[in-house]
Amino acid sequence: MKKNLISNDIQISPKGKLIHLLGLEGLSKKHLTRILDVADGLIDDSGNLKKSKALDDMSVANLFFEPSTRTRNTFEIAGMRTSANIINVDLANSATKKNESLLDTMHTLKAMQIDMFVIRHKQNGLPHHVAENLEGVSILNAGDGINAHPTQALLDMLTIRQHKQSFKNLSVAIVGDIVHSRVAHSNIQALKTLGTRDIRLVAPKGLQYDSESCATVKCFSDIQAGLKDCDVVIVLRLQKERMLEADIPNEQEYFDNYGLTAERLALAKPDAIVMHPGPINRGVEIDSSIANGIQSVILQQVTNGIAVRMAVMEILAGKS
Ligand code: NCD
Repeated sequence: MKKNLISNDIQISPKGKLIHLLGLEGLSKKHLTRILDVADGLIDDSGNLKKSKALDDMSVANLFFEPSTRTRNTFEIAGMRTSANIINVDLANSATKKNESLLDTMHTLKAMQIDMFVIRHKQNGLPHHVAENLEGVSILNAGDGINAHPTQALLDMLTIRQHKQSFKNLSVAIVGDIVHSRVAHSNIQALKTLGTRDIRLVAPKGLQYDSESCATVKCFSDIQAGLKDCDVVIVLRLQKERMLEADIPNEQEYFDNYGLTAERLALAKPDAIVMHPGPINRGVEIDSSIANGIQSVILQQVTNGIAVRMAVMEILAGKS
């Protein structure tokens, strides 16, 4: 799999307690299972989310330097459902626009007694850098560049666990723009930690990992071979914002060769589930009928995002 150049070492205290969530490398199966179990406990028998008082003495700040609908809003709802005070920092009008350094802005927010920061940024390792320089707070990585998106992978694992018996015997195909995807990176790590042996990456040349990163997973350029008999299909968006203009594939051509259609999905197991972190681009990476179809669990992933983010916040706060 892709080499992780950014160390997550500081996310665990010398006593073994999780103090930040920066990435999934370095977290054991026990850590991941605990987060999933706490998240499960926050969903009632009818599938509704519970409320908790766990963070009623804490303040959380959302700092999103990149666009987001699902991640930002589910973090906000997770904050509210755990009784935290949560603010969305208005970055378009913040002091960083007046040339204040990000760390100075963060120190200022910490002085407002913020206990936990949720950060999304285009720079790989930015949340790690903040965690190293701001003491006494917890940093949650909500997506850094092409590096990691740990809570997305955790909500994906929770969704898979709700549908499938064990991770070990699953065949999981991740299809699309692998090379630019922090979601793919974190999902591969999570699946490996949880014991999945058959992880397939399906992408055209140019959007696929290099041969070194493909050494411990199965890389396919042929979507039909990649989807054959798999249990889970995770579809990814073409992340054009991370591509050079000249490298952006023609959308119709891409859909013709890699779009998830009914015909292609029929190659997977009949009970295969279809996942997508969103935002979805219908008719580009996924046919509209598949996104809305009975095998799609895309909206369930969104709801699970709240439970997982509540669980992570409670664990970081030492309340679960
Ligand atoms: C993803 C992201 O931002 O990495 N979306 C998300 O968090 N739900 C994937 C994407 O942008 O394609």
